[in-house]
Amino acid sequence: MPIETTASVVAEVPDDAELLAVPYASDLSPAVDLHLPVSDLLAHYEAKGEAGEIVEVPVARGGGIGRVLLYGVGDGSPRALRRAAAALTRRAKGRDTLTVAVPEGDVTAFAEAALLAAYTFRIGEAGKKAVRALAFAGADEGQVRRAETVAHAVALARDLANTPSSVKDPAWLAERAAEVGLPVEVWDEERLLADGFGGILAVGRGSASPPRLIQLSYTPAEPADRHVVLVGKGITFDSGGLSLKPTDNMKTQKTDMAGGAVVIAVLGALAALGAPVRVTGLIAAAENMPSGTSQRPSDVIKHYGGRTVEVLNTDAEGRLVLADALAYADAVLGPDAVVDIATLTGAITVALGRNVGAVYSSDDVLAKQLVEAGQSADDRLWRMPLIEDYTPALESSIADLANVEAGSRFGAGSITAALFLREFAGDRPWAHLDIAGVGRSTVEEGTMSKGATGFGVRVLLEWLTRG
Ligand code: BES
Ligand code: MN
Ligand code: ZN
Repeated sequence: MPIETTASVVAEVPDDAELLAVPYASDLSPAVDLHLPVSDLLAHYEAKGEAGEIVEVPVARGGGIGRVLLYGVGDGSPRALRRAAAALTRRAKGRDTLTVAVPEGDVTAFAEAALLAAYTFRIGEAGKKAVRALAFAGADEGQVRRAETVAHAVALARDLANTPSSVKDPAWLAERAAEVGLPVEVWDEERLLADGFGGILAVGRGSASPPRLIQLSYTPAEPADRHVVLVGKGITFDSGGLSLKPTDNMKTQKTDMAGGAVVIAVLGALAALGAPVRVTGLIAAAENMPSGTSQRPSDVIKHYGGRTVEVLNTDAEGRLVLADALAYADAVLGPDAVVDIATLTGAITVALGRNVGAVYSSDDVLAKQLVEAGQSADDRLWRMPLIEDYTPALESSIADLANVEAGSRFGAGSITAALFLREFAGDRPWAHLDIAGVGRSTVEEGTMSKGATGFGVRVLLEWLTRG
């Protein structure tokens, strides 16, 4: 389900606000009578002013008792404001309306985080509901609408990735993509075969639900001089295939289409944000299952464009579906830049953990833009190296490439996966985001909810609309 909390703007704090939040720094006198000076109250509660800190004070309101939440904003940076906003939403859980006197600074970041903290994924009626409404006092309508659009896009990506794989097969994903309101083109298994998408077909052939390649097209109102292609990994369930995963590793793999979900959600938000670039989204969707029709370790497949790959491990399937889509983008769409996003390797979690995503790029300018966009949008990225010494890891004696290293001389699982993708991206500026570590959260905290995070939506929207 999407974010059910509504967001509105009010010019002033209403006298009868049932629950009111005010930053420590602000002059409260016209809004509310606390009976004691704010500084005395804060000293009493030993408040430090940190972002995320909330001091709750009872106040007389219309004959009864109301509450004011005094909130810290730390150093007032966008990061601190996000933290403060998320804490407020979480404190207001189960309540009707929280009126928030907005802080100085980046109100868009503040409102976006407040909404994201209200996200829940429930099947049935379990759990306490998020605050019904947020009213931002003193905010600008445009800031709050942008925040809402972005937060809803993140929520869509989370919803798609949180949906159980019994529901979301590749055809289902194509239907959801068609709902974002852009021109859509879908390759079914016959068309994939006719056009030579051997990677997507090989990964999908073990499943009873056939694969799809999904293309969404966004054209801005004003003619654009730049065309960007986004490619998302859309594995609707990754069992590993015949290179079967153990249960504990498998049970998180319904979110293996998180990259594809991000591409769908980003494309869906571009019009509302007035993105000035042309953007094509490609989602390479397949279910990776073991069966009598599965591809086998040692099979050789032929990718879009004719390159052959020896499949030594069927669990390294993401790079196989992405290779087809990247080769197609390069040969047919001819973009100015291509960015792929994928829950590609467990190895990247070892390198960067769960809070920071990886960006690999053949282009210093593109890498820098993405790192900066990630910093300001709060989807933090760290640039990883494409180490040339490791390219022999993917040599095969019978095909153009192997999909994994045969032995264990080189290691560096996330880097070698990126090197594999680079082979298919052509000579255009290309970047690869490995979101296997950040695609899921194990905690319900700040702007994060347990399960799919929607990581990638905010950085890509920031890059495409503000860059
Ligand atoms: N979908 C997985 C990567 C993954 C692992 C995502 C854990 C999220 C959490 C990917 O398809 C995979 O299985 N990668 C293998 C590659 C290996 C076989 C070279 C991996 O990381 O173990
Ligand atoms: Mn896999
Ligand atoms: Zn996978």
